[in-house]
Amino acid sequence: EEEEVVEEEYLFKVVIIGDSAVGKSNLLSRYARNEFNLHSKATIGVEFQTQSVDVDGKEVKAQIWDTAGQERFRAVTSAYYRGALGALLVYDISRCSTFDSIARWLDELNTKSQLKEEELFEWVMSMLDLTPNMFELFPLLPVVAHSDTTVARMLVGNKCDLETLREVSVEEGKALAEAEGLFFIETSALDSTNVKAAFEIVIKEIY
Ligand code: GTP
Ligand code: MG
Repeated sequence: EEEEVVEEEYLFKVVIIGDSAVGKSNLLSRYARNEFNLHSKATIGVEFQTQSVDVDGKEVKAQIWDTAGQERFRAVTSAYYRGALGALLVYDISRCSTFDSIARWLDELNTKSQLKEEELFEWVMSMLDLTPNMFELFPLLPVVAHSDTTVARMLVGNKCDLETLREVSVEEGKALAEAEGLFFIETSALDSTNVKAAFEIVIKEIY
């Protein structure tokens, strides 16, 4: 008789949130596929990607949810914060309005979802007109909550390649992170600076 080898597996959910066009989708595509798109389209609803990370010789799988920053998707993207153990709160260092929004994103992360399941279903049906990929979301509905608290939260100042257009100083970023108990890092999805670190610090902290 053959012995069954059961490998231990860890699956964590991590969400990326922040205003539209701060570079959330590009951070994820840079991390997961080493791809960058200068003309990426705004995300509709949510998209996710599963990424394997080696932590102390163990395979940890992170399910990373890239959410839409646009206001019109706000009600539903917040439904996906449920069960997230990690969060990247992203702003754009060249647009201080996106930094000012971080307080609001933190609030939403703490509030979790106000959406009822029927509302979520209705929303998914309406989204099917926009993107056939939404079918991928069905097995994941309803989102199972493993935990009600986000364990690791990282404040991410993206687009640090745009030094000449900088509107938010490193000190301001650090100060906010310290006040709110967040990790802090500046990244560039364009030139790859700190992208891997931003995700893996969060994933390793959860583990
Ligand atoms: P939503 O999906 O609408 O929430 O936006 P998003 O946060 O996913 O932004 P996205 O990744 O689509 O990027 C928006 C724009 O910023 C695109 O034109 C990207 O090419 C650009 N961009 C993203 N990251 C960087 C970066 O690190 N540096 C520079 N210079 N541009 C970036
Ligand atoms: Mg996006």
